[in-house]
Amino acid sequence: MRQVQREFPFPIPFGWFQLCFSDELAAGEIRSVHYFGRDLVVFRGADGTPRCFDAYCPHLGAHLGVGGALIDDTIRCPFHHWRFDKQGRCVDIPYAKRIPPAAKVRTYPVIEKSGMIFAWYHPGEEDPMWALPDIPEYGDDAWTPYERREWIVKSRNQELAENTVDQAHFRYVHGTNTVADTDISLEGPLMKVISRSKVGSVDGEADGVIEINVHGFGFGMTRFTGVVETLVLTSGTPIDDERVHMHLAFTVRKLPDSDSTKGLGKAFIDEIERQFGQDIPIWENKIHHERPVLCDGDGPIATVRQWAKQFYVDAPA
Ligand code: FES
Ligand SMILES: [Fe+2]
Repeated sequence: MRQVQREFPFPIPFGWFQLCFSDELAAGEIRSVHYFGRDLVVFRGADGTPRCFDAYCPHLGAHLGVGGALIDDTIRCPFHHWRFDKQGRCVDIPYAKRIPPAAKVRTYPVIEKSGMIFAWYHPGEEDPMWALPDIPEYGDDAWTPYERREWIVKSRNQELAENTVDQAHFRYVHGTNTVADTDISLEGPLMKVISRSKVGSVDGEADGVIEINVHGFGFGMTRFTGVVETLVLTSGTPIDDERVHMHLAFTVRKLPDSDSTKGLGKAFIDEIERQFGQDIPIWENKIHHERPVLCDGDGPIATVRQWAKQFYVDAPA
């Protein structure tokens, strides 16, 4: 018999979560996705603005993403052609004299930023409580276009956030010692981690700095400076209470010649993939100890758990 069940005691957290990259949603397209334990549609209407609704029509429950259509500024249900406006209100029933006041689809606040589309999820439908940052590297000619990777991981956002400051694992799982000295500071939903270490360079050793800014559970930016300048955007969107969809986007400040830039970019993304490959089996098989036995070299894991509580409506004990 198993000693402990692999169950995480957290509800689905609230926050901004990536739905897709901008170029994955063409004008006039309706995409069906499953996040936050819900079936959703993401679409881009004639005005170019992305929107996210619950997938099921309040009438008789048809899926808006299966045969639905974008007509002017509305989405039309495939079943009886009820039409819903940007706010999710039914504005037209072609065969009725009166529109029932309850004819409304749940909508989610959406922003499109730096080549990504995010939705705000809150189980109680509260408005967004923070904003996401601009990414100055995006669209800057001095930086390469995003190189992207994605994974579906059987784990939870909190577990993945904890991993950011788990300094010992970098050495024992990844065989690196990049996190030598970790400073953490918290400002509401923002967690800032700065790590300094010596990294190899052509001149011997140089000071490498890793600066991680995590904006809630959904989105983080990791900037590496020192020998080369790189930025990794990390997003984790809860699919349900068992899985997280992770998207990574990677960009590097261009070197004087494009072959070196390509070589560097490839080496970096290979290294990230290698590390994910090592992390995933641990994440997917570990359990969550509410009271872990920690030691003095573990890094600020308890601090991250304290920070994490703010993202749950019903916080775990
Ligand atoms: S189910 Fe959508 S219009 Fe009837
Ligand atoms: Fe890791």
